[in-house]
Amino acid sequence: MKNLVLVENPLVKRDITYLRDEHTREYQFRLALERIAYSLVIEISKKFKLHEVDVKTPLEITKGYKIEQQIILVPVLRAGLSMVSSFINMIPYAKVGHIGLRRDEKTLQPIDYYYKTPRDLDTSKVIVIDPMLATGGSASAALKYLKNKGASDCVLAFLIAAPEGVKKMEEDHPDITVYTAALDRELNESGFILPGLGDAGDRTFGTL
Ligand code: PRP
Repeated sequence: MKNLVLVENPLVKRDITYLRDEHTREYQFRLALERIAYSLVIEISKKFKLHEVDVKTPLEITKGYKIEQQIILVPVLRAGLSMVSSFINMIPYAKVGHIGLRRDEKTLQPIDYYYKTPRDLDTSKVIVIDPMLATGGSASAALKYLKNKGASDCVLAFLIAAPEGVKKMEEDHPDITVYTAALDRELNESGFILPGLGDAGDRTFGTL
C-alpha cells in the first residue's frame, strides 16, 4: 500500500482505543476524535510548501516562514464535520468546502446530496476529511468530483481505514496519498470496518 501513511503515536493509539470502546460516550468520542485529527493535520502539513519571509524580533531581523499554498478542507458530510475544528485551529486561513454523501445501507454505494466548494481548487492543496474509509466508494466519489472541478493536489485524511478502501483508492486515484490513524483488518458483509468503531457519524452526533 504505497500511498498509505499510517499516523501513529502513543496518544493516537490511546485515543483510537477510546473510539473503539462501545462504552465511550458521545462527548468523550468527540474529544478523542478531535485529538487524533490534530495528529493527522500535523503529519499532512509536513508536505506543505513554505516560502521564506523576514521577521523582526524585538532584537533583530531573522528568517521566518509562511505557508505558500491556499489550503482547502473538504469534510465529507456528515461525519467529516467532526474533524474540521482541529484542522481549522491549526490552519486558520483554510477555506472549507462541503461534500454531502451518504452510503446506501444495502448497495453500499454513495448517494450524493450536497456540493459546495471554493473556487480556487485548482491552485490549492485540498484535504478531504472523513473519519472512515470503508469500501472507499464515498472517498472515490468525493475525489472524482473535486478533480472534475480542477483540484490537482489532494490528500485524504481518515481516523480509521479498511484495506478494501485503501485498495480502491490505489485503483481509482493512484495519485492520492491516504493518511489514517488506524488500518483495520477487513470489512464485514454489511460494509462495516472490523474491528472498527461502529459508525463514526452516529457515535459523534448521538444518532445511534
Ligand atoms: C460513513 C463515513 C464515510 C463512509 C465510508 O458515512 O463517514 O463517509 O460511510 O464508507 P465507504 O468507504 O464504504 O463509502 P455515512 O454514509 O454513514 O454517512 P454519515 O457521515 O452521514 O454518517
